Amino acid sequence: MRERPNEDWDGEVPDARSLLGWPLPERRGSIPSLSWLVERLRDSRPDWGLLESFVEFDPARYVRKTLAKTRACELLLVCWGPGQGSLVHDHGGSSGVSLLVRGELRETRYAWAGDRLVPDVSVRAAEGDLLLEESDTIHRVLNTSRHGAVSLHLYAPPMEGMTPYDDQVASLKPPRPADVGAGRRRRPRAG
Ligand SMILES: [Fe+2]
Repeated sequence: MRERPNEDWDGEVPDARSLLGWPLPERRGSIPSLSWLVERLRDSRPDWGLLESFVEFDPARYVRKTLAKTRACELLLVCWGPGQGSLVHDHGGSSGVSLLVRGELRETRYAWAGDRLVPDVSVRAAEGDLLLEESDTIHRVLNTSRHGAVSLHLYAPPMEGMTPYDDQVASLKPPRPADVGAGRRRRPRAG
């Protein structure tokens, strides 16, 4: 099941310092690099007790909530029901990193072959894994498990639109196996 996200949510959330243990930078351009963002999220200790109250599953589509947003970056919570996944998409020129705090996800990256996109590499992420979403990443994320999954995403600058590419995808055949650890880092279980 590939669905557009349910973003209808207007609840109040605590500040990022409460959720991550550090405040989001405020000024646009104040984040020096993607690796800086990766290190900060990797070293964070998300408060699962706080996050859990924002977890929400929709049987029709995955749920994406903006938890915090500054001119420099934004923090999203995504809740993936069993079988739910994103479209093939880019990140509108932003780059970021996601931390899988609960469950399992499969990420498939795509590469251009002429004017078509073909599956390039696929990785399975488990709890505590990080997935990089670089400015030129085109990928699809899918919860292939029978259980819900929850991920935290940090993007800089805040995303101003992502492009869906499903019409350009030439093949949905499984891609070649990924190198172990490619594009992700394992960390101790979060929460
Ligand atoms: Fe993405």
